[in-house]
Amino acid sequence: MINDEIKRHAEEAEKIIYQYLPEEEGYQKTVLQAMNYSMKAGGKRLRPVLMMETFRLFRGKGRVIEPFMAAIEMIHTYSLIHDDLPALDNDDYRRGRKTSHVIFGEAMAILAGDALLNYAYETACKAFDLEADNEKTVKAIRILAKKPGIYGMIGGQTVDVELTGKALTGKQLAYIYENKTGALIEASMMIGAILAGASEEEINAVEQIGSDVGMAFQIQDDILDVIGDSQVLGKPVLSDAENGKQTYVAIYGMEEAGKMVETLSDRAVSGLDRLPYDNPFLRELLLALIHRDR
Ligand code: IPE
Ligand code: IPE
Ligand code: MG
Ligand code: MG
Ligand code: MG
Repeated sequence: MINDEIKRHAEEAEKIIYQYLPEEEGYQKTVLQAMNYSMKAGGKRLRPVLMMETFRLFRGKGRVIEPFMAAIEMIHTYSLIHDDLPALDNDDYRRGRKTSHVIFGEAMAILAGDALLNYAYETACKAFDLEADNEKTVKAIRILAKKPGIYGMIGGQTVDVELTGKALTGKQLAYIYENKTGALIEASMMIGAILAGASEEEINAVEQIGSDVGMAFQIQDDILDVIGDSQVLGKPVLSDAENGKQTYVAIYGMEEAGKMVETLSDRAVSGLDRLPYDNPFLRELLLALIHRDR
């Protein structure tokens, strides 16, 4: 069953991630506890799994991928802690737990997010100790630096926040999704390809696949915000409507949004099929995401 396979891969990623989490000790113990509280809350571990499976697709060898898997999950988790803050989406439930700011207070949640972002780069730099050929590692770190930033995730979150409660165009909404969600998924897959030694052309193809996966993933996230089960999701539903956020569901309707998820995912799979390698699990995973309920 694909769901068992997905679970097995998420557990594999989680084991690797845990090895890179900080010890909760020292005068700064509270921020370390807050970091681990959110990192250890579960989550689908989709980005590290996509990274590992893209690495495997291109026949990557060795452990250099591991610190990058932990790093991307740290960056993703930081983005969630900050996304849930009262100043942003003001959500109090995430990954089946109270959100960081509810448990640790707003100041510590802000710091825990900052700390995870910074620690992600400290962690990724550990790859230099694992790999003799540092050229690929440098290239991977460049992507890890760029995609979460102002020309990536932060860019998308900025426009998301700024246009909340306002009418927006389809183009603006596409920009938000491509960046707030697409950028980290692109980074995950690109880093897997880069570290496995994929060619420039292959890396570009992977970026396009990641972009389609990211767009489909965010539209499905919006769908689940309306029809999902908050117990299964581990986060509140109807958050978008409450916050006055325009989504694909709000603009195009539920049925059309569902079709878009399918079309984008099919396009991602076609892109994957055009590559001269295959990874059947990765292919199945991309298809399974169309009907995910969490
Ligand atoms: C949630 O991401 C934020 C979005 C980009 C939609 P996930 O749905 O991957 O969250 P976790 O990691 O499983 O908690
Ligand atoms: C999340 O978008 C994008 C991030 C960069 C965190 P959402 O605000 O829709 O994510 P959820 O629904 O809170 O997980
Ligand atoms: Mg948000
Ligand atoms: Mg949110
Ligand atoms: Mg959402």
